[in-house]
Amino acid sequence: MAVFASGRGTNLQALLDAFPPGHPLGEVALVVSDREEAFALERARARGVEAVHLPWRKGRFAEEAQALLKARGIDLVLLAGFMRILPAPFVEAWYGRLLNIHPSLLPDYPGLHVHERVLAAREAFSGTTVHFVDQGVDTGPLLLQARVPVLPTDTPEALEARVLSVEHRAYPLAVRLLLLGLAGPEPLSLVLRRIWP
Ligand code: GRF
Repeated sequence: MAVFASGRGTNLQALLDAFPPGHPLGEVALVVSDREEAFALERARARGVEAVHLPWRKGRFAEEAQALLKARGIDLVLLAGFMRILPAPFVEAWYGRLLNIHPSLLPDYPGLHVHERVLAAREAFSGTTVHFVDQGVDTGPLLLQARVPVLPTDTPEALEARVLSVEHRAYPLAVRLLLLGLAGPEPLSLVLRRIWP
């Protein structure tokens, strides 16, 4: 598996912990970041996992990434805080083997500034969604969701921390389901919804 990450990489860390080198189901063998200073690259190096900085150049990034994924024999690409929109040919080539994690209960609140918008709307619950990536932004078929309560005293930071803590369990679980053949992007495949709390 390859993980694409642009930032601090706490979800990457959860995936590195769940799928270390030699894991019988699959291992995180490559981490790619569009940002050289991303802490995600450090996390990969600390585990002895190949970490590659690929600068974002429209058109070029996807081509270079594709060549790298092929050279390393990657079967599954996991976006974890990857802040770029991948071009259509890349998404098409990887459809069904390309996942993203988003910090809301999709289809509600796609895009950015999720926690601020959830608080402004006085939602009682928020959560996270692991989904297959399609040509839209945060629109692909859902694989798994986990729900958390929104508290009246929440700040965006407090809500983000609560969502993140379930993301770290949800992403490895979703990947496990996919690797075991228990989930897929087609409508009749198993979709687990709202498993926590
Ligand atoms: C997560 O909340 C994820 O859902 C979103 O970006 C955030 C990344 O956090 N796509 P981290 O870099 O994994 O800590």
